[in-house]
Amino acid sequence: MRRWELIVGNWKMNGMVETARSLTDEIRVGLSQREERQLLCEVVISPPFTALHAVHQHLQDSSIKLGAQNMSAQQSGAFTGEICGLMLRDVGCRYVILGHSERRSLFGETDQSVMEKVVAAYVNGLTPIVCLGEGREDRDGGRTLDVVGRQMDAIFPALPDSASKQQQLVVAYEPVWAIGTGLTATTGQIQEVHAFLRKQIQEKLGSTVSRKIRILYGGSVNAGNAKEILALEDVDGALIGGAALKAKEFLSIIDSVPGDA
Ligand code: PGA
Repeated sequence: MRRWELIVGNWKMNGMVETARSLTDEIRVGLSQREERQLLCEVVISPPFTALHAVHQHLQDSSIKLGAQNMSAQQSGAFTGEICGLMLRDVGCRYVILGHSERRSLFGETDQSVMEKVVAAYVNGLTPIVCLGEGREDRDGGRTLDVVGRQMDAIFPALPDSASKQQQLVVAYEPVWAIGTGLTATTGQIQEVHAFLRKQIQEKLGSTVSRKIRILYGGSVNAGNAKEILALEDVDGALIGGAALKAKEFLSIIDSVPGDA
């Protein structure tokens, strides 16, 4: 069964407001010329915080949704430098990327802090896109499924009781060694991890929810490899970094979403 695919552009710490506006316009116009694509997939773009408001204004009358790249687990108050979920909603965000490997490795995020952010995302009506994935050493040491299994397990306590809310969760499998390196996991490696995660979700939340939850792949996805990755049975979309900064390439990835939805 094909789920409604989700294509997410993670712009990371790139772009001034003006470049964010023009990139948004290019993607918006390109997608509006592809009506059939809008039925096959949902598109989210995640600019830096400073461009969220401007990008939101340029997304009026577009089916493209806005996402943030991180948020605080706190609701408000004395947390200098932080941005809370309510603020993200206020500028038009519907999605938030949480636990990206760069946040885990460079900014000390842990399974516990990611879990707390997932709670806050739900509280504020944001759909969390939770990233997980193994590093090179764990891949080489045969520990991939242990690592992603542990990261996935840490998310379950954050989920609301309602099945309809649980199935909104988006999981993004991103092998750390494939992010920004030009190395992509093989289709066999990707499908193995995605099927493993879906089974884990099924054991914990039941098959109705596990059939609906979207599991994205991320890590050097580009116009050349998107088609075979997106065609995999348990891959329901992609989280795209570098290739999301070029409108033409991002649109070409959207063109690679399988048509048998
Ligand atoms: P990449 O980044 O596509 O540049 O590898 C993916 C990500 O970090 O989400």
